[in-house]
Amino acid sequence: MGETIIPLADLRYHAAVPAIPARLEAPTGTLRDRLRRPLRDLRISVTDRCNFRCSYCMPKAVFDRDYQFLPQKSLLDFEEITRLARLFGAHGVHKLRLTGGEPLLRKGIEHLVAMLAEVRGADGQPLDITLTTNGSLLARKAHALKAAGLSRVTVSLDALDDGIFRTMNDVDFPVADVLAGIEAAQAAGLAPLKVNMVVQRGVNDHEAVTMARRFRGTGIVLRFIEYMDVGATNGWRMDQVLPSAELLRRLQAHWALEPLQPNANGETAERWRYRDGGGEIGLISSVTQAFCRDCNRARLSTEGKLFMCLFATQGHDLRALLRGGRSDDEISAALGALWAQRDDRYSELRSSGRAPHDGAERRVEMHYIGG
Ligand code: GTP
Ligand code: 5AD
Ligand code: SF4
Ligand code: SF4
Repeated sequence: MGETIIPLADLRYHAAVPAIPARLEAPTGTLRDRLRRPLRDLRISVTDRCNFRCSYCMPKAVFDRDYQFLPQKSLLDFEEITRLARLFGAHGVHKLRLTGGEPLLRKGIEHLVAMLAEVRGADGQPLDITLTTNGSLLARKAHALKAAGLSRVTVSLDALDDGIFRTMNDVDFPVADVLAGIEAAQAAGLAPLKVNMVVQRGVNDHEAVTMARRFRGTGIVLRFIEYMDVGATNGWRMDQVLPSAELLRRLQAHWALEPLQPNANGETAERWRYRDGGGEIGLISSVTQAFCRDCNRARLSTEGKLFMCLFATQGHDLRALLRGGRSDDEISAALGALWAQRDDRYSELRSSGRAPHDGAERRVEMHYIGG
């Protein structure tokens, strides 16, 4: 795969400063984009750093010792993040997901969680605050995160076999420590706990059944993610994708499974249940069955750029508004106008054979924007 890696000279993506509308309309909590999709989920990346080097996300050849991560002063601070969360909440966001890089590397992350736990949405209720982590620091942090107001966590885990796991994270990190993190999170009551496995054919697909066996009957929801063509550094190829339909057939050779209704509109995962009462699994089929139709997710980068799609090439510089002395009303109106203009549906266009944007533009990277 090495020859297909494209080095990144500069991480900073183009981001225009959003215009402030002439009329400052108050948020109603009922925003719709151009495809009539509401805004419900804000994913906040709190660091572009990670202690792992998964080859599909931060390949070592690119993210080496010379790689320039964002300097501290360019990161949004906790007050800035909380202020934006409040404005998004008023626009109808119900769920906040903290991501990275690895979000537990951000110093004092539990203080941010405590600040976000004070935010109320358009309906006056607290927001659902969750976090996606590689689990390496979870055993140490689970309790403090729960106490600060985190509802639940999702742990990324691609294999149970220690050798495969160490190779995939490429920093020789032992799987036992991640499993200890998962146990600590369960003990702390961060439930329902989800485990996300990115499945790559020929790399870890044979671990899928082992993973299912390990998490059956534990109350943990294991979700299998089709390997996506996100970013520009991972040298993605279609033959590395294991379609969810094929994965399901493999699981059904061991257990009887039946489909479940979605929990909420716009969910990423298709839910299935073991008929014998062993619990639930999820299939996230971003490649073979795009779910753009109900996509209600916006993404905020570590330095305050807002992206309307995981595959966007351009962001919107909210930090410029925050640091430019703009009022809440002005920023809120700008957010409303941005969402109203949104028409992104990258995965859907790609699977119908149309090129969503020309290949010359650099897509945003997963470690920068989070899953
Ligand atoms: P829950 O709140 O637990 O349902 O989580 P979620 O499914 O909303 O979020 P999670 O971060 O667990 O997403 C799981 C994976 O789905 C991510 O790591 C991505 O690989 C993929 N994913 C999430 N959101 C999107 C999206 O908007 N578009 C695409 N194409 N993939 C996504
Ligand atoms: N395809 C699918 N999922 C990915 N993730 C990172 N890169 C990819 C990719 N190319 C997932 C990780 C983690 C979350 C942050 O994003 O597994 O669960
Ligand atoms: Fe791996 Fe997640 Fe870190 Fe990316 S952010 S290198 S997927 S652990
Ligand atoms: Fe949403 Fe873009 Fe993912 Fe489609 S590809 S589901 S629009 S983030």
